[in-house]
Amino acid sequence: MIPVTPLTTERPSALATEISERLNAAIREHLLAAFAPDNKKTLRSFAAPEAAALLGVSGQFMRKVHSEGTIPEPSEIRSGRRYYSAQEIWTAREILEQSSRKKGRYVPRRRGDEKLQIWQLMNFKGGSSKSTMTIHLAHYFALRGYRVLALDLDPQGSLTSMCGISPEIEFDGLTIYDAIRFDDPVPMADVIVETYFPGLSLAPSRLLLSEFETESAVHSNPDQPFFTRIRNALAQVEGEFDLVLMDSPPQLGFLTISGMAAASSLIVPLTPSMLDVSSTAQFLELAGAYMGVIEEAGAALRYDHFKFLITRDEPTDVPSQQLTSFMRALFQDRVMSATALKSTAISDATMLKQSIYEVVRSEMTPATYDRAKSSMDAVGHEVEQMMLQAWGRV
Ligand SMILES: Nc1ncnc2c1ncn2[C@@H]1O[C@H](COP(=O)(O)OP(=O)(O)OP(=O)(O)O)[C@@H](O)[C@H]1O
Ligand SMILES: [Mg+2]
Repeated sequence: MIPVTPLTTERPSALATEISERLNAAIREHLLAAFAPDNKKTLRSFAAPEAAALLGVSGQFMRKVHSEGTIPEPSEIRSGRRYYSAQEIWTAREILEQSSRKKGRYVPRRRGDEKLQIWQLMNFKGGSSKSTMTIHLAHYFALRGYRVLALDLDPQGSLTSMCGISPEIEFDGLTIYDAIRFDDPVPMADVIVETYFPGLSLAPSRLLLSEFETESAVHSNPDQPFFTRIRNALAQVEGEFDLVLMDSPPQLGFLTISGMAAASSLIVPLTPSMLDVSSTAQFLELAGAYMGVIEEAGAALRYDHFKFLITRDEPTDVPSQQLTSFMRALFQDRVMSATALKSTAISDATMLKQSIYEVVRSEMTPATYDRAKSSMDAVGHEVEQMMLQAWGRV
C-alpha cells in the first residue's frame, strides 16, 4: 500500500503536481497487481463450444476434423475437454480455409479490390462509450479472423491501455504521434505493435499525441494539410490489415478531424440521455462545418456508412427508451438496430482493462455475462454486415 498522508501543498500548481504524482504511483501499483506476475496481459483460452462458434462450425464437425487429424489438437486439454488459444483458432482457420470450397468461409479477409475499412468512433461527449466500443469491436473482429489495427487517437490512451500497454507506466515507445508529426515523421509500420491478442495490432497513443493539436494549428503548408496525415500514414500499411478501428478523444480537435478525413465509415456512439443527445447535436453541427472545410480544401469525403450506435442502453429505463425511440423516429436506419446494453459485466471487465470477450463466463453471473456478450456480438455482427456490404459481398 502507498502511505496516505494529507496533501501538503497549497499553491495550485504544486498541488496539482502532488496529486498527479500520488495518483500515478497508485495507478502503477494497481496495474502491477492487475497484470501480475510479469505485468503482461495475456488472453484466456476458449472452450471447445466457443471455438466452434467462432469458426462457425458445429461441435460435431470439430470432433470430426480432430479425429481425422485435419487440425492439430490444442495444447490445453483438461478433464478430456479441449481449450484453444486464440492463436490455435487462427491456425484452424487457415487449415480449414484451404480445404473449403467456399473462399473466405473461414478466413474472411478482404481480397481483390476490396478496400481497407477504416471506421472511426467519435463524439465529443465524454464517456459516450467510444473506447469501450472500439475495443469490443476490435476483439470481435480479431476473433473472427480479420486483421485489425486499433488506432488510438486519444492522448488519454484508454485504447492503448486496453491493448495491454500502459501509457501510465514506463511506456516510452513510438506512438501514432511519431508517424503523423510534421517534422521528420517515422514510417507508420515503425509505430505499430502487435498485441497479446492474435489478429489485433495497435498504433498506440500517449499524452505526447496532444502535440499534434498544437502543431496543426501553426503549420499551414497547403501541400501537407493536417487532415491528410492520418490518411497518408494508413495508406503506408494498407496491405497489412482488413479493418482499422479508430478511437477518438472527447473533443472535435485536429486529431478527430484528421480521423474523419481518413475514415471510410463513421460511428457516433450515443448514450440515450437528454444531455448527451443535445451535445451530440452540437457535435454534429460542428463536425459538418469541418467536413465542409476539408472538402473545400479539395479532399472529397465519402462514407460508406455514417451511423449512430446507442450505448449504455437500459431497456427498463423509460426516459432513455423514449429518447432511443425518438432518435429512431428521426433518423431511421441511421441508428444501428443493435444497441450496446448497459451492463455491470461490461463495466467490471473494463475496470480490469478487459473486454467481455476476455472474461471467462464462469467468473461472472452467467445471465449477466450472456446478456452483455450477446449485445456486444449483435453490435459486432451488424458492423460486420456493413463492412461486407462496403466490400460488395452482401
Ligand atoms: N455498455 C456499458 N455498460 C456499462 N458500462 C459501460 C458501458 N460502456 C461503457 N461503460 C463505462 O462507461 C465509462 C466510459 O466509457 P468509455 O471510456 O468507453 O467512454 P469514452 O466515450 O471513451 O470516454 P472519453 O470521452 O473519456 O474517451 C467506462 O467506465 C466504461 O466502463
Ligand atoms: Mg475514450
